[in-house]
Amino acid sequence: MTRIIAVTNQKGGVGKTTTTINLGASLARMHRRVLLVDLDPQANATVGCGVDRVNLSGSSYQLLLDACTLGEAVVVVREGLDLLPAESGLAGAQAELGGEEGNDNYRLRSALGGATGYDYIFIDCPPALNVLTINALVAAHSVLIPVQCEYYALEGLTGLLETVARVRQSANPGLVIEGLLRTMYDGRNSLTREVSEQLSQHFGDKLFRTVIPRNVRLAEAPSYGKPVIDYDEKCLGSLAHLALAGEMMDATSAQDNTPAEQTGGAP
Ligand SMILES: Nc1ncnc2c1ncn2[C@@H]1O[C@H](COP(=O)(O)OP(=O)(O)OP(=O)(O)O)[C@@H](O)[C@H]1O
Ligand SMILES: [Mg+2]
Repeated sequence: MTRIIAVTNQKGGVGKTTTTINLGASLARMHRRVLLVDLDPQANATVGCGVDRVNLSGSSYQLLLDACTLGEAVVVVREGLDLLPAESGLAGAQAELGGEEGNDNYRLRSALGGATGYDYIFIDCPPALNVLTINALVAAHSVLIPVQCEYYALEGLTGLLETVARVRQSANPGLVIEGLLRTMYDGRNSLTREVSEQLSQHFGDKLFRTVIPRNVRLAEAPSYGKPVIDYDEKCLGSLAHLALAGEMMDATSAQDNTPAEQTGGAP
């Protein structure tokens, strides 16, 4: 079964795109078939995968507007890893796709209905709780929330969790929290440890055991258009994402063995 995971946090710069690319690439390395969906007008995941934004035969924007098919838009990044790229026109989608109540919130879900043959689909969301993020939440089975362990980390989480609860009630009863992921982690920093402890108290086993350390290789890799495992396989950033992929595969196989009524079923 394909598991669709929205990578989201309306706070900017917390590691959503870094997680999407590198967790996706790590799962592909472990022989899983992965599709990355770039749903951010900034198109950072597209550029970070080395895909030229100019000569696209389709994009997430065109797909949302029914102007192309998924097959036309998807680009192969590396073995097992495909990308649905973003183009800057996506910024206008907010205006073109109406309000939160309309059928426009279901567009991505319908479009991804035809995405067969993937084990995982990761949706890289923009740093906003807008119509694009709502589309991702309606389409997804679960939500992965990257959190930077710093002073304001917890502040936006309430709003995000309320939005997730609202989407669960209105459009997607099966939506669950896949997990919160501590990113840019620096264990020498006492604030990091303090915030990490608070996250652990609030979210318990919803917190991924794996933490992603602050690692310069992770910041460098996108400028070479590569996932970090193709840039520096042995660096701490690569090892952490491979560990995260292992943790996620264990969780997925446990979910697959759990009856649907306990997990809330599929959307
Ligand atoms: N673990 C890390 N170590 C070092 N640098 C990192 C790490 N994770 C992310 N970065 C860098 O921090 C910046 C923000 O990361 P990223 O783009 O993944 O965040 P984002 O949540 O997707 O941002 P936005 O909200 O703008 O979409 C980038 O320059 C990225 O390379
Ligand atoms: Mg991003």
